[in-house]
Amino acid sequence: MNIIVTGGAGFIGSNFIFHMLKKYPEYRIICLDKLTYAGSLSTLEPVMDKPNFRFAKADICDREAVNELFEDEHPDIVVNFAAESHVDRSIEDPGVFLQTNIIGTATLMDVCRKYGIKRYHQVSTDEVYGDLPLDRPDLFFTEETPIHTSSPYSSSKAGADLLVMAYHRTYGLPVTISRCSNNYGPYHFPEKLIPLMIANALADKPLPVYGEGLNVRDWLYVEDHCKAIDLIIHKGRVGEVYNIGGHNEMRNIDIVKLICKELGKPESLITHVTDRKGHDMRYAIDPTKIHNELGWLPETKFADGIKKTIKWYLENQKWWKDIINGEYQNYYDKMYGNR
Ligand code: NAD
Ligand code: DAU
Repeated sequence: MNIIVTGGAGFIGSNFIFHMLKKYPEYRIICLDKLTYAGSLSTLEPVMDKPNFRFAKADICDREAVNELFEDEHPDIVVNFAAESHVDRSIEDPGVFLQTNIIGTATLMDVCRKYGIKRYHQVSTDEVYGDLPLDRPDLFFTEETPIHTSSPYSSSKAGADLLVMAYHRTYGLPVTISRCSNNYGPYHFPEKLIPLMIANALADKPLPVYGEGLNVRDWLYVEDHCKAIDLIIHKGRVGEVYNIGGHNEMRNIDIVKLICKELGKPESLITHVTDRKGHDMRYAIDPTKIHNELGWLPETKFADGIKKTIKWYLENQKWWKDIINGEYQNYYDKMYGNR
């Protein structure tokens, strides 16, 4: 089995590659990644020398480059993680989100059609459903919840999902889509809530909580997401959407307080800053479909996952310090300097 994993030098894609190479040593895994600010070859270092792994630097919007790779590898399956993924950056500059997330997805699927791929899997997000009110804890996102987006990021992901379903209906492309809640774990880029708070707390820097910090996210350990995608590409029904989430809703402020506690840092580091524009209040996934059809259940409890994650950031400081000491500093000053 030849599998092309796009965006595999990023957070979830790299964890997926590690999972697949470990579980299926007989598979060939090819990572296609543009290496934007969010992707790094250092992340893939542990697998770079494996004979059944190949890295190819390319943009999913570059039809010729994608064609060339398919010509070489004749993949059976493509799993598309490649995306611009940070909501705050999409609010600052939507253009690149439309380009990569929408045009890139269409380009990739065009090449998949040409080469008669057995499965195209689109890694989507629960953010396509918009948000839920805080005072209705009985409500959850199901696969039937209407698409109702808030940010340029989520709109670009929703646009991609619509195209994926259109390629299935119009051209018969064998597709599946997964929509997962917030992931956390190793190799999470430090612009995102959990790694940002760990890095700042370790440096005794302010912990910038947007607004009151009452927004709720449904956190899932990244390995559980990877296992769910593994099940979907092998056993999921073509043309179907699968929601992935572990019923682990937490308020941002409680996450930040927990990180302070785990690291022995004072809560006085917490600084409330101007809220994100259009900030979604609550995400909450109903994972009944993937549980009933594919037997998926999350395996890592948040209490254990957050400890493992913090331990990883403590033991791998070079990985994230190389990032935050580079170009990232300009991003941080721009986003948080006058907030
Ligand atoms: P990430 O930002 O950490 O990684 C994205 C990767 O894609 C990087 O390696 C980057 O270099 C690559 N990339 C970006 N543009 C590209 C292009 N044009 N061509 C080729 N490669 C390109 O993202 P992540 O958090 O790992 O998310 C991966 C996917 O999962 C995304 O599609 C995202 O929408 C989705 N998702 C993320 C979460 C989460 O909590 N992080 C939850 C649900 C879904
Ligand atoms: O739900 C899935 C989505 O989760 C993915 O599709 C996205 O790619 C991923 O980035 C994530 O989006 P969020 O916007 O939920 O994640 P983020 O880590 O940016 O923020 C989580 C919450 O924390 C959100 O309510 C905003 C808040 N926040 C974030 C940062 C970076 C803060 O309060 N302070 C911060 O500095």
